[in-house]
Amino acid sequence: MNQIILITGSRKGIGRQLAEHFIALGKNVIGCSRSESDLRNELYTHFCLDVTDEVAVKKMFSQIRQKYGHIDILINNAGIASMNHFLLTPLITVEKLFITNFNGTFLCSREASKIMQKKRYGRIINFSSVAVALNLEGEAIYASSKSAVEQLSRVMSKELGGLGITVNCVAPTPIDTDLIKAVPKNKIDELISYQSIKRMGLIDDVINVVDFFINEKSSFISGQTIYLGGIIS
Ligand SMILES: NC(=O)c1ccc[n+]([C@@H]2O[C@H](COP(=O)([O-])OP(=O)(O)OC[C@H]3O[C@@H](n4cnc5c(N)ncnc54)[C@H](OP(=O)(O)O)[C@@H]3O)[C@@H](O)[C@H]2O)c1
Repeated sequence: MNQIILITGSRKGIGRQLAEHFIALGKNVIGCSRSESDLRNELYTHFCLDVTDEVAVKKMFSQIRQKYGHIDILINNAGIASMNHFLLTPLITVEKLFITNFNGTFLCSREASKIMQKKRYGRIINFSSVAVALNLEGEAIYASSKSAVEQLSRVMSKELGGLGITVNCVAPTPIDTDLIKAVPKNKIDELISYQSIKRMGLIDDVINVVDFFINEKSSFISGQTIYLGGIIS
């Protein structure tokens, strides 16, 4: 049976390129984002929704279950970032970051797992960031939200292990997307200087880790976070 892959935040950036990668491999890809997607392909279905909206998320998974009966891979890519000194950070920014990065990952993982457990098979990949390991100044809230995603993933991996579902995180270095376009160049250069391998991240670096986590032979790998760029946590 063809694998069903759900990628959140697939309208643009890393999520879009992951969607195109899996479509090129002939997989059925389901994507979602708050705005409409212009990705047109017979293997691709797009849901217009906010991953923080529990009713909308549940409805999407109900439709996936009715149409396909199963879901094999969930990639919780949807995320937002914000840089600021914590003393200057309004509470609304904290709420937006946590509700998107953490609540969105939680909601989609919970609903996907309910479907995955029936087949006793599933792969969940969550998105963290090197901002967690580097304790970056100016990224207190973003890093905290991603740290929460990592912690959630570790406990989920234990609670879902017996159901045949693995849960892992990929933690990219800066990759040229809209997410980091407001970050000053000197900040990006400083971040890269902390890496063992001193260059910007590429989409292929992320795809490589995702492909590894979803590989059939990776059934014994769960609860892990892979940091790109040679960042050591
Ligand atoms: N780029 C980097 O340097 C970098 C580094 C480390 C980690 N990451 C992580 O990688 C992931 C992807 O980042 P990116 O660089 O591709 O960002 P991006 O270019 O800004 O794309 C973000 C995607 O998420 C969607 N999205 C945002 N909020 C959403 C919500 N509430 N509900 C549904 N979809 C939502 C956006 O579409 P809509 O606007 O239409 O909703 C868009 O498709 C994020 O989790 C990010 O934290 C990125």
